[in-house]
Amino acid sequence: MATSPSLSRQEDLALREAASGRPRTQLIANDLKLSEPERALYERLARRRFADEPLSYLLGHKEFYGRRFWVSPSCLIPRPETEGLVEAALNWATGQAHRFATEAPLRLLDLGTGSGCLAVTLTLELQARRIAVRSCATDLSEKTLQLARNNAAWLGAAVQLFHGSWTLALPDTERAGGFDLIVSNPPYVGIEDPEFLSGELSWEPAAALVGSRPSQDGMNDLRELSMQALACLAAGGLFAVEHGSRQQQQVVSCFQDAGFSHITPMNDLAGRPRYVLGRL
Ligand SMILES: C[S@@+](CC[C@H](N)C(=O)[O-])C[C@H]1O[C@@H](n2cnc3c(N)ncnc32)[C@H](O)[C@@H]1O
Repeated sequence: MATSPSLSRQEDLALREAASGRPRTQLIANDLKLSEPERALYERLARRRFADEPLSYLLGHKEFYGRRFWVSPSCLIPRPETEGLVEAALNWATGQAHRFATEAPLRLLDLGTGSGCLAVTLTLELQARRIAVRSCATDLSEKTLQLARNNAAWLGAAVQLFHGSWTLALPDTERAGGFDLIVSNPPYVGIEDPEFLSGELSWEPAAALVGSRPSQDGMNDLRELSMQALACLAAGGLFAVEHGSRQQQQVVSCFQDAGFSHITPMNDLAGRPRYVLGRL
């Protein structure tokens, strides 16, 4: 006998909240009852979820580092593991705080900003630690940049956004003097990766997953970025990237070839090799 698909408790509550506009506490107190029009909307959303459409696209938002980011199918949904890159960058910046002041702020650059989750979070978290910061971010997708712009405005983060490829999107005035902290979670999925070809990933923009120059090993953008980032770092600056769990050796080699020093491979909270840091 065929079994009908089911939602997890958390997904069920999230879709009920979205369909009714009421918070889950109120819904639970009312035995999860929905009016007829609310139920019709809930069922439409549930059907889309059963077809593997990511919950965050159905809701239109995703939590990242304790803040709500608005998302749409034109941007990658922020991932919890990317919060590890935020932590690594903040640890470094906190140790360097004495170097920065309002008149000489930390210059932050996020390459391939997507929803803006890295640029916005780092800007706000640095300010919360009383570290003056001036932030820029780039993305190849104009639609994605519009979302990042909305998220920066909604969360109150001053981030200058530039349209174009990696650091080439930056005007000369921004490149001058270099950046103290460059972060990136670039496309790194290989074109034959089975995850890319099926399931929830297939709903996300291919340009965010495999990039504009797809390859089997997913390394094209990481290789290009290592070279470009080094050229834009200020003396003593840090470049920190996220990568796939089987790519760390290759990323370390790219950093070595580009000429970084103090190259530090790092694991995520689950113990998987997911980040590499390098300094000028
Ligand atoms: C994996 S997503 C990461 C998005 C966001 N930083 C995050 O962590 O959720 C990669 C982003 O890089 C952008 N991108 C791809 N190729 C690019 C390029 N050549 N120059 C600038 N951005 C690019 C994509 O549009 C996408 O937004």
